[in-house]
Amino acid sequence: MSSRGLFSNRLGFILAAAGSAVGLGNIWKFPFEVGLGGGAAFVVMYLIFAFLLCYPVMITEVAIGRKTQKNPVGAFKALGYNNWKFIGILGLIAGVVILSFYNVVAGWAFGYFVEMVQGNFAVGENFGSFTSDIFKVGIYSIIFMFFTAFFVSKGVSGGIEKLAKVLMPTLIVMILALVAYSFTLPHAMEGVIYYLVPDISKIEISTIGGALRQAFFSLSLGMGALITYGSYLSKKDNIISSATFITLADVGIAFIAGLMMFPFVAFNLGGDMSPVMAGEVGGPGLIFVTLPGVFQTLGSTLGMFIGSFFFLLLSFAALTSTVSLLEVPVSYMVDEFHIPRLRAVALVASFIFLFGIPSLIGNGYSEFFTSGFNIPGSADFMSFLGKLADIMLLFGGCCIVSFAAYIWKKENLHEELAQGYDGYHASFVKTFVNFTVSYVSPILLALLFVMVLLDNFFGISVF
Ligand code: TRP
Repeated sequence: MSSRGLFSNRLGFILAAAGSAVGLGNIWKFPFEVGLGGGAAFVVMYLIFAFLLCYPVMITEVAIGRKTQKNPVGAFKALGYNNWKFIGILGLIAGVVILSFYNVVAGWAFGYFVEMVQGNFAVGENFGSFTSDIFKVGIYSIIFMFFTAFFVSKGVSGGIEKLAKVLMPTLIVMILALVAYSFTLPHAMEGVIYYLVPDISKIEISTIGGALRQAFFSLSLGMGALITYGSYLSKKDNIISSATFITLADVGIAFIAGLMMFPFVAFNLGGDMSPVMAGEVGGPGLIFVTLPGVFQTLGSTLGMFIGSFFFLLLSFAALTSTVSLLEVPVSYMVDEFHIPRLRAVALVASFIFLFGIPSLIGNGYSEFFTSGFNIPGSADFMSFLGKLADIMLLFGGCCIVSFAAYIWKKENLHEELAQGYDGYHASFVKTFVNFTVSYVSPILLALLFVMVLLDNFFGISVF
């Protein structure tokens, strides 16, 4: 399988997979979802889901990938279950859907970096005119797609792995520096309290669904991205400990991103968090609207420095994620149709960019794509795609674990997990995986999938 390439060592895999997980989902989406979902109550649900439901799904995806050394569609075929390749096909579609809008937001982040370098703090108040300037945001998202395509075209160990090895550690250091800074601001504590002290009465069905959707998206699960990355992992490596690290890194970074954001938000609001609780402040614009004003108060030089630093960080985090999203359809075309990597990258990236145009123009420029979609809670095309992707991921995740437990059979899963982990058969982890993969994950995911589907698309709340 050497022609497909392998990660050069376990660290390369771990950093690439953690890079995929850590992205706009952690730094842009997590804080605003927490804001909308009621603060700390959401955070608690999110943590429970990440470790109880998502972690076993992650282990299963990586095991299927490494066992078959294939892309998500080829993997089901390679295991001898041709009928199940629909899971992989759905995953490919979900990946295309996600990347099409994700690249637009990544383009904004990159664009904000450029604005901050120029000292344009007013861009925050003018977020609406920024996103509707399609010439500008169009160029930014083309640039972003180009970078993504460049690193994917270099292959696994040459591009993806090298990128992640440099960016992941830098990212962590950068975020921690900003957390330290945010804590020095007036009213920081009010923000921290909103974020960390749970109000159990805030837990509603939408909080539960939202927390699960967020955990799935943030951990890059449900569409075979980790089947694909797992396919480049060597048989000598320990899947369980890798998955543990990736989950901890992703959850940890989302957590500290919140720790940075809420003091900033509280500072901006003069300590009164009620507009956040009422949903008046927040939503997808949260970081884009709030942060430039915060940076401005630092004075023009320091503000410019920290502001550019932050949006550069956000762009980096997004890049290691877009790379993983593009890698999935590209590996499919390379494996199944033997198309040269470079050509596959060019084809898929152009297609996804075009498919992203409605999201690009659906943030102010085109009336129809901005407000013509009548789904509960939002009316723009990008939110519609976000919700569509979320349910596809839940459905995919549910199918993947059910497949592994009942079709492929648990013995085979365990056998794969034991490779590279000597004491696996006698370990507690084995019992945990056995139980969650057979019962907890499939049942809860199926239930929550139905609830989120009803809630997101029909406005029906089950409770
Ligand atoms: N997890 C990434 C984030 O949090 C986004 C992402 C990358 C993703 N690859 C994925 C989400 C695959 C779902 C599936 O920003």
